[in-house]
Order: sequence, then structure tokens, then C-alpha cells
Amino acid sequence: MKPEVQFDKLVVFSGSGVSAESGLPTFRDSDGLWNSHAWEEVSSPRGWQRNPEAVLAFYNERRLKAWHAVPNAAHQAIASLEAAYDVVVITQNVDELHERAGSSQVIHVHGEIAYARGSSEARRRYRIEGAPISMGQLCEDGAQLRPDVVWFGEEVQFLEEARLHIASAGKVLVVGTSLSVFPVASLVKAARGRAEKVLVSLGVEKPPYGCKCLRGKATELVPALAAQWLAEDNDRPN
Ligand code: APR
Repeated sequence: MKPEVQFDKLVVFSGSGVSAESGLPTFRDSDGLWNSHAWEEVSSPRGWQRNPEAVLAFYNERRLKAWHAVPNAAHQAIASLEAAYDVVVITQNVDELHERAGSSQVIHVHGEIAYARGSSEARRRYRIEGAPISMGQLCEDGAQLRPDVVWFGEEVQFLEEARLHIASAGKVLVVGTSLSVFPVASLVKAARGRAEKVLVSLGVEKPPYGCKCLRGKATELVPALAAQWLAEDNDRPN
């Protein structure tokens, strides 16, 4: 059963490209993290079993950078859209730059780097902001603490909730993602035919069907798009 399309609902689906101009690296660009690290070693359950110290070091470095990064004009423009739309941000990013820019509904499908969690099934989570996790740091049930992020091969969070948001949106903005990691990338297909769909990215490798593709920097294109959508709303009869 498909939900009703709400024309005042605007869903943003973001990836690492939206945080690139805040100084946080992407994954698959030439200077991306998966060119300097093997994801199997630092972002998978097998890597965690084989060398947890390497995994902790990888995320400790990223956590500190994310903690000191500041939102850019794209994050701010997305937050400004809440003045006229019911905005839900679905992000693959583990930083909290959308929240710091003022977005009030943010769903992290790949987890949040500012949190640690137990490595047992209890999944107790603890906010650690920019602090490192070290070996021997245990959660209440005695399990080693790990980053509260989703590794390759682990279950994505809030997938069905995210799909329903996209399926009920009148506008969908996809920004700063190569759409190369599933099942999350398939969320874009839940956007309805009559919804306005825009993709903003430096590289538009695989434009989703029905998406208007704007090639360029998020900090330039997203504010311009937000201004257009806010003006549209002003012109709408109340
Ligand atoms: N403005 C707009 N787009 C940009 C910018 C920018 N300044 N810089 C980079 N991009 C685009 C790139 O062209 C690319 O299409 O952002 C995209 C980044 O793609 P990836 O590096 O693959 O990152 P992402 O899509 O977020 O990866 C998804 O993969 O490894 C996992 O968990 C990781 O959440 C991540 C997921």
C-alpha cells in the first residue's frame, strides 16, 4: 500500500558529498577514504574481529574530524527549507552536520560516529562526541565498546521508515551520493512519479530515473534550489 503524497513534504537523501565542503572526506572520490583504507579491514565485522585496534583508530580519527567540522551552506540551506516544508533528512552520513545546521528530523541509516555502543546484542549506546574509543573500554554488560556505525554486511537502520518518508514526499532532493551502496541506494526508487526529484552531485554516475540532475557543488546548487523552492511556496495560495 503506497502512502498518500504530501506536497508540503520534502525529503533530502544525502551522502558524504554534502559534507565534503566542510572538510570531511567522501569515500569513492579520488581522495576518498576507500582509496586510502581497505573497507574490509576498517569497516566490516571481519575487520573488527581480526584487528579491532585498526578499526578503532580509523573511526577515532574520523570522529575527531567530524566533531570539529562545521555545517556548510548546503546543510544550512536544507535546514532553512523547514520554514516552508515538512523536511525529513535521510542521511548515509555519520556526522551530525545536518543537525548542527538546524535540521530537526534527521534519520541516520548508517549510524552516528558521535556515539559508541556495546559490541554485544544489548547494543547499549553512549554519546561520546569527539572522544576516542580504546581497547578495554567496556559497556555496562562488559562488552568492548565499538563505533555506533553500520559496517558493510551489517543491517541498515530505519530502512522501512526512510522508504515511507520518501514514498510520501512531494519533493525529493538527492545530494552528494554516488548511490553505489545497497540497500540504502534503492531508497531513491521509492520516490513517486508525481514527486519533484532533483539530484545534486559533482559526479552524476547513475542518475536515478525521473531525477533532474544538477552537476556541481552542493554549497552552490543546494542554496539556489532551496531559494527557488521557498519562493515557490510563497507564491502558493494559502
Ligand atoms: N558537492 C556535491 N557532490 C559532491 C561533492 C560536493 N562538494 N563532493 C563530492 N560529491 C559527490 C561525488 O561526486 C560522489 O557522487 O558525492 C558523492 C560521494 O560518493 P561516495 O564517496 O560513494 O559517498 P556516499 O555515496 O555517501 O557513500 C555511501 O558508502 O562506504 C559507504 O558507509 C559509506 O555511507 C557511505 C556509503
